[in-house]
Amino acid sequence: MVAFERGKQDLNLLSKMASGEGHGENSSYFDGWKAYEENPFHPIDRPDGVIQMGLAENQLCGDLMRKWVLEHPEASICTSEGVDQFGNFAIFQDYHGLPEFRQAVARFMEKTRDNKVKFDPDRIVMSGGATGAHETVAFCLANPGDGFLVPTPYYPGFDRDLRWRTGVNLVPVTCHSSNGFKITVEALEAAYQTARESNIPVKGLLITNPSNPLGTTLDRECLISLVNFINDKGIHLIADEIYSATTFGHSEFISVAEVLEEIPNCNRDLIHIVYSLSKDMGLPGFRVGIVYSYNNRVVNIARKMSSFGLVSSQTQHLIAKMLSDEDFVDEFIRESKLRLAARHAELTTGLDSLGIGWLKAKAGLFLWMDLRNLLKTATFDSETELWRVIVHKVKLNVSPGGSFHCHEPGWFRVCFANMDHKTMETALERIRVFTRQLEEESLDQAKPMVTTTMMAKKKKCWQSSLRLSFNDTRRFEEGFFSPHSPVPPSPLVRAQT
Ligand SMILES: Cc1ncc(COP(=O)(O)O)c(C=O)c1O
Repeated sequence: MVAFERGKQDLNLLSKMASGEGHGENSSYFDGWKAYEENPFHPIDRPDGVIQMGLAENQLCGDLMRKWVLEHPEASICTSEGVDQFGNFAIFQDYHGLPEFRQAVARFMEKTRDNKVKFDPDRIVMSGGATGAHETVAFCLANPGDGFLVPTPYYPGFDRDLRWRTGVNLVPVTCHSSNGFKITVEALEAAYQTARESNIPVKGLLITNPSNPLGTTLDRECLISLVNFINDKGIHLIADEIYSATTFGHSEFISVAEVLEEIPNCNRDLIHIVYSLSKDMGLPGFRVGIVYSYNNRVVNIARKMSSFGLVSSQTQHLIAKMLSDEDFVDEFIRESKLRLAARHAELTTGLDSLGIGWLKAKAGLFLWMDLRNLLKTATFDSETELWRVIVHKVKLNVSPGGSFHCHEPGWFRVCFANMDHKTMETALERIRVFTRQLEEESLDQAKPMVTTTMMAKKKKCWQSSLRLSFNDTRRFEEGFFSPHSPVPPSPLVRAQT
């Protein structure tokens, strides 16, 4: 009681931001993370643990990265080969960033866009990951209470990055599965009107291309329509292109930078790109984020704001060296695409063989799985219920579509690049066991059902007596993992990727 009173008092002493829920960590979405943290899968020590499929990390090319680091000790100022530079970099703190760093990043961004566009190193502004870049852009473009349109489903971290400390609103643009979640001008107009009716001044449109969580890329026609839309309305376009080189197979990524060249009347002051090395190079821990704006004032002010989230000079130095090694970069990107394609094929072949649908797309570190047929009712409550079974019984931490603001229940994001091959095999085996169990239970029930597919039959029965054959000793208990239960601290940043 005393502790509670003290807690209450302390909150009153803090700012609204500090005592509020703006970070978004208290959503039920984090329960899956907590389940994983409590019982992480390990092939030998914890073979019945939860497999992490909620983390959009590219760990497939870590060996190439390690090899490069070992072969280039001079890139670190803490080695005998690099220590001569220690004095220079340990005192460097200029918010413009090292010229060689900006040069190398600009060149890398050109490369990942097939050299179809040029990037000016003087427009490269650094920040603490794309997370920091988004907040910086929001601070530059909008006042508290203003809004950005965001097509759904979208990366949940945007609620934190663009809204939390800026006081900006995100206005969902509802996209539908019927056309593969394409962004249409009609949907944009509808969201724009809704915002106006709610007295939210719309300052911009935020797109993610390639998309997290869909894994789709925007085609040229769509991109042109978006640029025309924001021009007509006189609002900004923020293009998050963090997955630009994370495409594979026949998937084609077109940057907004390329489309700009084709729209001569476009007001370039309205266009801003957010980028980072977290996904394409698999370096989220380095916190290398980029704001690339075509607007001089935004470049200027964002650069000053970057004092709050500078990339350390050691990291800039290392990244400058690494990205200037063009042979390495070319090989890394080529190999990364091959490995992602192979992993994606492994997962999708497995899902196809089980009759589980997924949105056809070949980009990103995840796929968008369609379990609508397994929902007992087409509601988000039912989605959450199914998700809890998947997390706590099937022991796979996938992410429910509701947490991405998807407007249709029954979709789940499944990450596939943050684990080794054996773990992926185990995950697929668990899905196989799960679906087989559903089939058996539906046959047992033997009720005449007027359904067309086996998956439609499965949905009737996953809840009741489901028992899985892989050491599922713990019974799922509703409420045990509730957002308010006393659980160990969750990894705040990783939980949002
Ligand atoms: C679309 C998108 N934008 C931004 C981020 C944040 O990236 P960073 O680690 O560079 O802050 C993520 C991370 O998952 C993301 O998926």
